[in-house]
Amino acid sequence: MADYILEMRNIVKEFSGIRALSDVNLKIERGEIHALCGENGAGKSTLMNVLSGLYPYGSYEGDIVYNGEPCKFKNLKDSENEGIVIIHQELALSPYLSVSENIFLGNEQAKHGIIDWDLTEKKTTNLLKTVGLRVNPNTLVSQIGVGQQQLVEIAKAFSKSVRLLILDEPTAALNEEESANLLELIKEFRRQGIASIIISHKLNEIVNVADRITILRDGKTIETLEKEAINEDRIIRGMVGRDLTNRYPERHPNLGDVYFEVKDWTVHHPIDAHRVMNEKINFKIRKGEIVGIAGLMGAGRTEFAMSVFGRSYGSNISGKVFKEGQEISVKDVPAAIENGLAYVSEDRKALGLNLLMDIRENTTIASLGKISKKGVLDKEKEVQIAEEYRKKMRTKTSSIYQKVSSLSGGNQQKVVLAKWLMTEPDVLFLDEPTRGIDVGAKYEIYTIIEEMAAAGKCVCIISSELPEILGMCDRIYTMNDGKFTGEVLRKDANQESLMNLMTREEEGVL
Ligand SMILES: Nc1ncnc2c1ncn2[C@@H]1O[C@H](COP(=O)(O)OP(=O)(O)OP(=O)(O)O)[C@@H](O)[C@H]1O
Ligand SMILES: [Mg+2]
Repeated sequence: MADYILEMRNIVKEFSGIRALSDVNLKIERGEIHALCGENGAGKSTLMNVLSGLYPYGSYEGDIVYNGEPCKFKNLKDSENEGIVIIHQELALSPYLSVSENIFLGNEQAKHGIIDWDLTEKKTTNLLKTVGLRVNPNTLVSQIGVGQQQLVEIAKAFSKSVRLLILDEPTAALNEEESANLLELIKEFRRQGIASIIISHKLNEIVNVADRITILRDGKTIETLEKEAINEDRIIRGMVGRDLTNRYPERHPNLGDVYFEVKDWTVHHPIDAHRVMNEKINFKIRKGEIVGIAGLMGAGRTEFAMSVFGRSYGSNISGKVFKEGQEISVKDVPAAIENGLAYVSEDRKALGLNLLMDIRENTTIASLGKISKKGVLDKEKEVQIAEEYRKKMRTKTSSIYQKVSSLSGGNQQKVVLAKWLMTEPDVLFLDEPTRGIDVGAKYEIYTIIEEMAAAGKCVCIISSELPEILGMCDRIYTMNDGKFTGEVLRKDANQESLMNLMTREEEGVL
């Protein structure tokens, strides 16, 4: 008989009348890697929050049995004491503390009440080695990228003694190589007898790593698949309830003239003005074209898009931006928006959304001019438009008055997209647009992107997922170390050729 480290039985969880989980069952075997799959809003994170005590005993129905004992966790500390560590979907590090301070926050390495910094640093160095992160322990978290922050979170988990590790979309912000390293790490933990629950929308990773999979749909357990039955199509069928024939919409591009152009764009680091982040970049998009920028994390893709979008990044910026051959100003964000640009951030929580506001307000906030008359907001119009986007994006929510902070991760991403689509931009930069989005919703978002291009707009997709770049873009720029290193048409590109260009030092063509 299987040896279960954890059983969750008939779990029911409601939020002011909304049933997020109904009768969910989950069994985790000792030392296995168990994946939790389901569409955005299916209840995966909620279930893990119940398990970790974030939603305390008494706020849900059902039983949790861990190591044969019933559990009544009142908070995260209670579950951590039992060796259950959760790494949340949205990163929760303190930006103005260092890497080592973050790792040992609340678990300070002190002797006689005095923090032993040497020991803290030494332990941090070892933990960083375990997760394969090469940064100085004293670096401030605000100075490292999202992907590296994720590794810090994982290092933090391993500073505690873990028996059951829960990873909620751990690789969402990582590139392929880093993701692969992380998955190897989880397999290594399996060899050490540590069980893991992993949530991910990257189904290829799940197929690669999971021993068993439990699928949730609309807050219910649909099924648990054993290793032999695991393949991507099978998981999708469980998640969506039907087969999904295409991952990308069909594309018949109808390209016009060059519409948008950036010439000799050079950007320096905002604090360290000597550091060149983008060097002499030349970039153009035709009307109706979807262009991709492929590069590893740290290549300078986000810096490029953000600096062009109203100088939201960088210092000492030089170069020119043209629309239909005329130079335009992008001196600040209002000027960029005025000139028809939009940028959808990769970091939706810090830059994309106002978490205190509801869906309606977040959707319309960048387009208030469109729904105001003589400076007065037309509330009815606001509601009507927010409602339209909710339907179009199939955002899973009780209503447009729900605070975005309580939406599931993928549904937050849909609200960010809606916000920028509503500005009806001529040139849209999408930075990792489908991070954390389920396969079905990805297809919907791709369709919206394709429709924008078909309507003659210019779209630029920045993505770490090469299949996405190859599936969606007509033309692809590759980037490495702040420079464009190649430019290829989709028909001439494949994953391998892109990888080659993404890792070369100088510009070249295929
Ligand atoms: N604090 C809350 N208040 C109200 N509703 C909530 C709250 N937290 C979650 N929900 C709702 O519960 C449902 C399940 O959300 P959950 O975050 O568990 O989804 P998920 O499966 O993790 O999705 P994703 O893949 O997008 O991360 C959603 O409809 C969400 O809006
Ligand atoms: Mg989630």
